[in-house]
Amino acid sequence: MAANLVFVSDPDLIETMFRRTNTDFQMTLNRRMESESAARGEAALDAWMLARRRSSSVLHTAANPTMDEELTEHVRAWVRVGEPTDLVGDLSRLNLRSTARLVTGTSDPALEEATLALLSPLTEVVDQGTRLRGVLALLTRRHRHARSRDTLLQNQIQAVAHPDSLVGELARAGVEPQVVTNFAVAMLLAGSVVPGAAGAWVLAMLAAHPQWQERARTDETARTWLINETLRLYPPTWLISRMVAQDGIYAGWRLRAGDELVLSPYVSHRDAQVFPDPEEFRPERWNGLHPRINEYFPFGAGARRCVGAELSLARLDHLVREVLQAGTVEGPAPTGMSTTITLVPQNLRLRFRSTKGGLPGQGDQFRPGPGPGLA
Ligand code: HEM
Repeated sequence: MAANLVFVSDPDLIETMFRRTNTDFQMTLNRRMESESAARGEAALDAWMLARRRSSSVLHTAANPTMDEELTEHVRAWVRVGEPTDLVGDLSRLNLRSTARLVTGTSDPALEEATLALLSPLTEVVDQGTRLRGVLALLTRRHRHARSRDTLLQNQIQAVAHPDSLVGELARAGVEPQVVTNFAVAMLLAGSVVPGAAGAWVLAMLAAHPQWQERARTDETARTWLINETLRLYPPTWLISRMVAQDGIYAGWRLRAGDELVLSPYVSHRDAQVFPDPEEFRPERWNGLHPRINEYFPFGAGARRCVGAELSLARLDHLVREVLQAGTVEGPAPTGMSTTITLVPQNLRLRFRSTKGGLPGQGDQFRPGPGPGLA
């Protein structure tokens, strides 16, 4: 792709990269592009891995009745409006609120604002950072802007975090305060637009394949296949990278220390050997299908696999259930996708209809309007 930047599609090398992350392959630049992430044996990596372990116990036991109620309210509102104008935004904010509550134990609009305010300059920095790396990148106005937003968010987390939260749990586990805050920022950034985009893709696929709505309404297995198939075709985090720790031969490839390897679930998920007719949306292909970690990895894999994966799958299942319990969803396929850091459907205009004759007093509003391009 460029000097020291290699795109990897070889399944053997992908497997090696995942299995040997934190040893032969490091995570690449951190979100402030200040340094390369720590290597094995360094205290910073140990602290991060401790934070991950403690977070998974919190994430797995996380029952979130408030999130459930908020989702129900959102779905009702979509049905009431008929055709919400910013579905991705709605879903991203819903996810962010829920993640923020998990991370800090409280619902704080200023914290959510601070997260959103960091996301946008960060996207620019990361986008630019693949071209302009190291010290040079630190000098840019964009980078300074992102950095000051980052500091604001960290301060906000410290100001509002409740002991009964992930932040509290990590502090009790002895994770160093700076790592706690860093981890909290990473959770907030990762737990908003990415799961929001995933939800939007799932709803878009449901709308495009109405025959699956009937099945998914009552059948949990059908919902699992539907979600797997959506994340196969549209993995919101469509690029994952690693850095080679030292010169060597890995899965038959000679690589040099510092090489940045980029792999893409979007590309690997379209391997026709594993997924025949890969461009076709066929949830039923998941019947008895158990792809290997180098064949299907919407959440990454190995030591640094997404910590929010199980939680996200449960949230997506819940989203589908709520929408289909309320009624149906229809509309044209998105007209494109944004491909900066996250794969986001563009111009997604879906119509939500109640099959129960509408909410009291709202019947007139369920008439679908023209879709984009049809007006
Ligand atoms: C459908 C939704 C989501 C998708 C598709 C997704 C995908 C990913 C991917 C591909 C990675 C990189 C893994 C790697 O490099 O091997 C990642 C990392 C991460 N994700 Fe997610 N994610 C989702 C939701 C979430 C949520 C809801 C949270 C928080 C509650 C979260 C927190 C994180 C964190 C903290 C990391 C960094 C892990 C580390 O570096 O050790 N993610 N995610």
